[in-house]
Amino acid sequence: MQDDQTLSNRSTEGMVDYNAHSSAQQSMVANHAATIRKLVQNIGPVRPEFRIADYGCGPGLSTINVARSAIEAYREVEGDGPVAVCHLDQPGNDWNTLFTLLCGPEGYLEGRTCIRAEAAVGSFYDRMVSDESVNLATCFAASHWLSHAVHLDAPGSIWFADLQGEARRKMATLARSDWVRFLQLRAQELRPGGHLLVSTLGSVPDADEANGAAASGRGIYRAIQAAAQSMADEGLLDKASLDRFVFALWFQTEKDARDPIESDPVLSKAFEIKEVSVKPAPANADDVFGALIGDPAAYARKYTGYMRAFADTTLRTQLFGPAANDVEEADSLAEEFYRRFEALYREHPGKYRFELWNLTVVLRKRP
Ligand SMILES: C[S@@+](CC[C@H](N)C(=O)[O-])C[C@H]1O[C@@H](n2cnc3c(N)ncnc32)[C@H](O)[C@@H]1O
Repeated sequence: MQDDQTLSNRSTEGMVDYNAHSSAQQSMVANHAATIRKLVQNIGPVRPEFRIADYGCGPGLSTINVARSAIEAYREVEGDGPVAVCHLDQPGNDWNTLFTLLCGPEGYLEGRTCIRAEAAVGSFYDRMVSDESVNLATCFAASHWLSHAVHLDAPGSIWFADLQGEARRKMATLARSDWVRFLQLRAQELRPGGHLLVSTLGSVPDADEANGAAASGRGIYRAIQAAAQSMADEGLLDKASLDRFVFALWFQTEKDARDPIESDPVLSKAFEIKEVSVKPAPANADDVFGALIGDPAAYARKYTGYMRAFADTTLRTQLFGPAANDVEEADSLAEEFYRRFEALYREHPGKYRFELWNLTVVLRKRP
């Protein structure tokens, strides 16, 4: 298959069967339901409407739960005052599923009045809504995706945490400038007094790691590396593509997240920091799917489903497509890859476990 048919410049291409495999993301939102309520109360009544914007909303349940928490809190603040919920994501998001869900029994429209649901399509590394139009901005499990696909000279590592030397420096520079850009754009879109809540996967200092930090999900990415490397070693994947492929993501430490907000002149002027923290997830932080470890086959299936949901389109575009002559061949390579990945979890339960440290950033736009 030709590169120009298969390679994309996007950092992530969309989620596969996402609602069935996003329990980890849904827990992140559930854990912040109280934060959302508190932020809505702090913002108080607004005119002409209270506008929530959920950036990187994805196709369903998580963004619906974000909206529901905010709407319920606003109803306590201001009876039936008008509320607008804007769901923001890339063109490839499964918008049909999202709007079907939010109008149905699991949604937040049924039985309520004075609520407007809308979508904004694009990248959160660009302006997505108009100036000073958002009261509460949220972004769950999305801001770790960088602004574009990354190709580096990085044999032996498919993710940022194991990069070394020049490759690591380049990736760190991109991650920092993307974070600054993301926040500067939100500073323009938030109303004075509005709040931004970012919650995603983080990293914590760890002297035993090559780069001095343990990143969430390190087991998963190392299992992806092992499965892909074994296929490249057998000539099933293109070794040159694998050596240059790196997931375009970065899980920040508290310092990564905080430093630019304090030192960038635009950001320090725009935002008051309410919280920047990285903490173990409230439940199952040591192995997110550890409840299933007694049944290795189920444990392995859960991990494969979770990984496939966030990685499938990226891997197809960057690895399977370039090694295949047609779509059928790319499909077979994908199936072989998932078979190997699942076997790693079934045969070594716990070795590639998903450890989870949550990054939380809460900022208030200065009046
Ligand atoms: C793991 S999903 C999270 C979805 C949802 N927020 C949740 O918590 O379940 C990440 C989402 O971020 C979106 N995303 C990634 N990069 C983006 C960008 N630059 N602009 C807008 N959305 C983006 C993806 O399309 C995807 O829907």
